[in-house]
Amino acid sequence: MKKAIITGVTGQDGAYLTELLLEKGYEVHGIKRRSSLINTERIDHLYEDTHVYNKKFFLHYGDLSDSSNLIRVVQNVQPDEIYNLGAMSHVRVSFDLPEYCADVDGIGTLRLMEAVRTLGLTEKTRIYQASTSELYGKVQEVPQSEKTPFYPRSPYAVAKMYAFWITVNYREAYNMFACNGILFNHESPQRGETFVTRKITRAVAKMALGLQDMMFMGNIHSQRDWGHAKDYVEGMYRILQHDTPEDFVLATGVTTKIKDFIIRAFERLHVELEFKGEGVDETAYVKSHDNTYAFKTGQQVLAIDPRYFRPTEVDLLIGDASKARNLLGWEPKYTWQSLCDEMIDSDVELFKKDTLLRKAGFEIKNQYE
Ligand code: NAP
Ligand code: GDD
Repeated sequence: MKKAIITGVTGQDGAYLTELLLEKGYEVHGIKRRSSLINTERIDHLYEDTHVYNKKFFLHYGDLSDSSNLIRVVQNVQPDEIYNLGAMSHVRVSFDLPEYCADVDGIGTLRLMEAVRTLGLTEKTRIYQASTSELYGKVQEVPQSEKTPFYPRSPYAVAKMYAFWITVNYREAYNMFACNGILFNHESPQRGETFVTRKITRAVAKMALGLQDMMFMGNIHSQRDWGHAKDYVEGMYRILQHDTPEDFVLATGVTTKIKDFIIRAFERLHVELEFKGEGVDETAYVKSHDNTYAFKTGQQVLAIDPRYFRPTEVDLLIGDASKARNLLGWEPKYTWQSLCDEMIDSDVELFKKDTLLRKAGFEIKNQYE
């Protein structure tokens, strides 16, 4: 039985990857941060289901800013594989927390590499580093592949740039099986609530149920290459099963404006939008709807709030994943449209359930609020 350590196990990707590895028969050890409130909602169903997984899923307190802890966990587990997914992963927030982001996302990766090296596990342990399409930033080439030069545009991306190169360096210097997955945006119903897709699907679902009037967005003209997290964790796994340690881009090869994701999200609930104005004055209204939900014709549903703009933006991301397709046989199954539909349906169900419970007199605290 293989053993894996996952940092960032409580995050979106950590949860999907844990499920995948448990299904494959791995013993999984997740590193989670101490928090004042319980933060394991995404993995509780796996952790509590000892019947299904036969006690093969373990959680350890830890933090990428604490090397002694990382050394202790790696020493105790003696892992075959480490997936370093832990990070302060919000690009906008990294402008507010640049030093913390550098420490966790950049030096945190070094701490993990050093733990493996100093414990003499360089031949045994394979390491996956969660690199990102944010490295391409102000893109130097369209589409972006493993050969495209980097031009990071945020403290997050600069920290991840250090992590990328330290991974390459430890591979070359110490012959470690250490690989970067350069992953383009991937989303799911489990996506953090402040990333753009989930912010949209939550807001649209709430408007549909009459729980919210409108939403405030930032730059809705940037473009992203969106896939589903389920497809991408399969790619992470395949990267570590390959014969040789290499870096891979995972992407769908399709790019979409935030605005088009918004239009699709409303369409899923039978609403046609009308947009007016430009720049910070851009707005959107309900042009037509079919009365299934609480929308009203003429209702304003969108305004721009410059608070959500970034000091430096990444305008266009579109990936070329042909290396992963050819060497790993990796192909994404979801389109951005099927992803959007799944997220909308899931959020409508989530808020319907909450509404029913509230009506029945239960005082419930929405786990996502
Ligand atoms: P996420 O949902 O934000 O999860 C991040 C995880 O890291 C959470 O478990 C978080 O713990 C943990 N974490 C934060 N600070 C930490 C620290 N100091 N020490 C240890 N753990 C810490 O992110 P995700 O979308 O799953 O992404 C996973 C990884 O892939 C991240 O490294 C991200 O930068 C990278 N990535 C993501 C995408 C994407 O589109 N999703 C694309 C490319 C790369 P808490 O739950 O306690 O906050
Ligand atoms: N979050 C957010 N909130 N983004 C908005 C909003 C808003 O209200 N309005 C417009 N946007 C735009 C952002 O300016 C950006 O251009 C785009 O939507 C996507 O933003 P996010 O969903 O926050 O993701 P990201 O692309 O910045 O970063 C994500 O993907 C990276 C991979 O490319 C994160 O998951 C990173 O961790 C990941 O590395």
